[in-house]
Amino acid sequence: MKNLLVTGGAGFIGANFVHYWMKTYPQDKVFVLDALTYAGNLASLNPVKDNPGFKFYQGDICDTAVVETLLREHRIDILVHFAAESHVDRSISGPEAFIQTNIIGTHSLLKAVKKVWLDEGLNKETHRFHHVSTDEVYGTLQADEPAFSETTPYAPSSPYSASKAASDHLVQAYHHTYGLQVTTSNCSNNYGPYHFPEKLIPLVITNILQDKPLPIYGDGQQIRDWLYVEDHARGIDLVITKGQLGECYNIGGINEWANIDIVKLICELMNREFAENATLADKYPHALSVLEGKAQSLITFVEDRAGHDRRYAIDPQKSNSDLGYKPQESFETGIQKTLQWYLRNDDWWTAVMDGSYRQWIEQQYSTAG
Ligand code: NAD
Ligand code: DAU
Repeated sequence: MKNLLVTGGAGFIGANFVHYWMKTYPQDKVFVLDALTYAGNLASLNPVKDNPGFKFYQGDICDTAVVETLLREHRIDILVHFAAESHVDRSISGPEAFIQTNIIGTHSLLKAVKKVWLDEGLNKETHRFHHVSTDEVYGTLQADEPAFSETTPYAPSSPYSASKAASDHLVQAYHHTYGLQVTTSNCSNNYGPYHFPEKLIPLVITNILQDKPLPIYGDGQQIRDWLYVEDHARGIDLVITKGQLGECYNIGGINEWANIDIVKLICELMNREFAENATLADKYPHALSVLEGKAQSLITFVEDRAGHDRRYAIDPQKSNSDLGYKPQESFETGIQKTLQWYLRNDDWWTAVMDGSYRQWIEQQYSTAG
């Protein structure tokens, strides 16, 4: 039986990971530490909230003393670190929070685990710090360049990716210097349930349902490598259970799509869904374009993101050969599950779009022209 501390467990991937872990390892105890920023949502933890092996703590990872107390009190052996500021556009308009949480916050966690696990000796031989990172640390690829491998040099280009790169280096430094037992995973773009509707896929789905424009940055030909979120959770599980200490593993879907193509695909799937399911017209009476089978008429090209990375792609060779990792969900099944989830869970996505979020996104639309 293991005791896990999951930071950022009320966010998109963290919550999906907690659901996955508690289903897969029902004997384990899972404690979530989350500051509940705009991106964190307790409702995303509803599927596990009544499980006796689960407990939620609201708190900041920058509060080292709180983390130390949780480590001791619950005899934590595995810390899985998701907590972060995660949205590239926000890092461009306000980088400070990214430096604070992603760099200072990660260092605060490292100080806490070093003190409790190494200096005080709790779980000295058996502890694990798993750091959840991103493929964005590798920078951008040209169309003909090979995908990112674990030996691709770091070349982050946004304040977000630079802050994640800094955190990756700190984690490695604590392994090399102090012998902290760490692993890191660098994953490509995730999609799926509980994804905050500021990111491309949930933004497009929820905007179609509200008959709002679908903003495409620049020429829409930027490429991302999309992975269903549960496949990310499965990959992290394999890194924790089978990965070598001090190693980094890339996790990806071998699923590259240009943004404009993904948006057009979602429009087609939504048109079809509305044509085949008459109850949707009652549920979403204001979704005029999709009700007429013309969701794509909402596509609107806007000013490009500053410093926009052109292409990301993951070479999953190492996680495949060393861990036996392979995504289980195809893009066809994953995107269908995601659409169905948003169609059913309008309570969730309307609630997370509170006043401050609306204000921020409206400001983005107006500055993007
Ligand atoms: P998210 O923005 O949906 O969730 C982040 C969570 O962290 C929220 O619940 C928030 O409340 C919490 N948080 C923020 N600051 C905190 C603080 N100071 N203390 C405690 N909690 C805090 O992010 P996500 O998309 O779920 O990403 C999770 C992790 O995975 C991040 O580290 C991100 O860099 C990484 N990642 C994301 C993707 C992706 O496609 N979304 C891909 C690869 C890696
Ligand atoms: O690659 C992993 C990363 O993927 C994670 O580390 C980040 O936390 C996560 O947010 C994501 O970053 P991206 O910037 O790739 O995701 P986002 O959904 O913001 O944008 C995906 C692509 O779509 C990107 O090329 C920008 C573009 N885009 C995005 C939005 C929100 C648009 O064209 N219009 C939009 O309105």
